[in-house]
Amino acid sequence: MGIRSTRLIGRDRELGALSEALEKARTDHGGAFFLVGEGGIGKSRLAADIASRALATGLPVLRGRASSIGPMVPFRPLAEALLSHFRGGLPPAAPELDPLVPVLARLVPDWYRGDRPHDNGNLLVLAEAVFRLLSVAGREGGCLIVLEDLHNADAETLFIVEYLVDNLASSRVMLIGTLRGEPGEALRLATAAAQRSSSHTFELARLDAERTREFAAACLETEPAAVPAEVANLLWQNSEGVPFVVEELLHGMLGDGLLVGGAGGWQVVGELQARVPEALISSIATRVDALGPDGETLLSVAAVLGRRFPLSVVQAVTDMDDRMLHNHISASVAAHLVTTDETTPGWYAFRHPLTAEALLARLVPSTKANLARRAADAVELLHPGLPGELCALAA
Ligand SMILES: Nc1ncnc2c1ncn2[C@@H]1O[C@H](COP(=O)(O)OP(=O)(O)OP(=O)(O)O)[C@@H](O)[C@H]1O
Ligand SMILES: [Mg+2]
Repeated sequence: MGIRSTRLIGRDRELGALSEALEKARTDHGGAFFLVGEGGIGKSRLAADIASRALATGLPVLRGRASSIGPMVPFRPLAEALLSHFRGGLPPAAPELDPLVPVLARLVPDWYRGDRPHDNGNLLVLAEAVFRLLSVAGREGGCLIVLEDLHNADAETLFIVEYLVDNLASSRVMLIGTLRGEPGEALRLATAAAQRSSSHTFELARLDAERTREFAAACLETEPAAVPAEVANLLWQNSEGVPFVVEELLHGMLGDGLLVGGAGGWQVVGELQARVPEALISSIATRVDALGPDGETLLSVAAVLGRRFPLSVVQAVTDMDDRMLHNHISASVAAHLVTTDETTPGWYAFRHPLTAEALLARLVPSTKANLARRAADAVELLHPGLPGELCALAA
């Protein structure tokens, strides 16, 4: 059973407003929305729900994500979003787009026709080109572009996002940006755009006690009343309403055999420990400890590498043989700590950035520095010349 709610819990206000905006984009005019909140609060989940609704009504959905791990490639989230929709295809036929196709080829290499763009790298021209492309994509019945984790986005991307935000009302394009509420350029952009009424920001709050119980029930595929009271209380106290932490804690309880489902519903077996407020760290720590010292080392090295990591580098740093490496990574996947990374063969990813952060919090600074140095050496040794993403990884 996966510790995940198939239903979206709460967020009624946001869902209502975003669904309405989606309908407007389909029939009339677009708009821009920013979902802001701490890690694990549910920004991606809400955006994904809207994206599913869009797809269900036939709207094209373009999705891209900024990453703190990859090299700071300019325009990465935008390029990813455009490629998610246009990869392998021709640019849409439209007279207003035609002169800008060579410019767009900077983001969609498939469209490179051998002619050099006349924009001299002018960002404003590229921004206009992206705007026109999206407008054309949405002209029949709207389209949705979702740009995730903008707090990690490069300045060039944010420039274009700002341009889009200010112009979307004259198109049928809806934009949803997600970002953590940390101070930075992305948050400034969202705040300023909201102030001049170009966009709307939703700050996602933590769930209250009742919603937390509802969320736990949904994860356990049961009714809120069927969640044992002490479980509900403990989850609420230790998660403080952050859905990701609720999932983690539930997973811990199930894994420890403290919460057991049967014909009589969910029951607590033995004594639920009141975990320390650093619920997440302890929950993850327990699972990491269960993997043994080698498993822990593997994950610590991985955490130093970031949310996503190449297994080859982990192997080089830890000096494990293939069989041992395979066993430990499989155990980590089974423990719900990491997953295979669908985008790159040989890479794995922590299930959530908070997992890596929790692991790092366990390391003393000197160990962290030591591991980072060894990891950087290993990246260089394994991949001379540091192609692609590996350069940033080493840095
Ligand atoms: N309202 C909700 N209903 C159901 N599940 C939720 C809800 N909010 C969050 N979740 C679940 O909690 C987990 C964390 O949510 P999510 O990944 O969307 O967080 P996030 O805000 O995008 O975090 P980050 O800033 O780290 O990207 C996911 O498994 C998600 O499905
Ligand atoms: Mg997210």
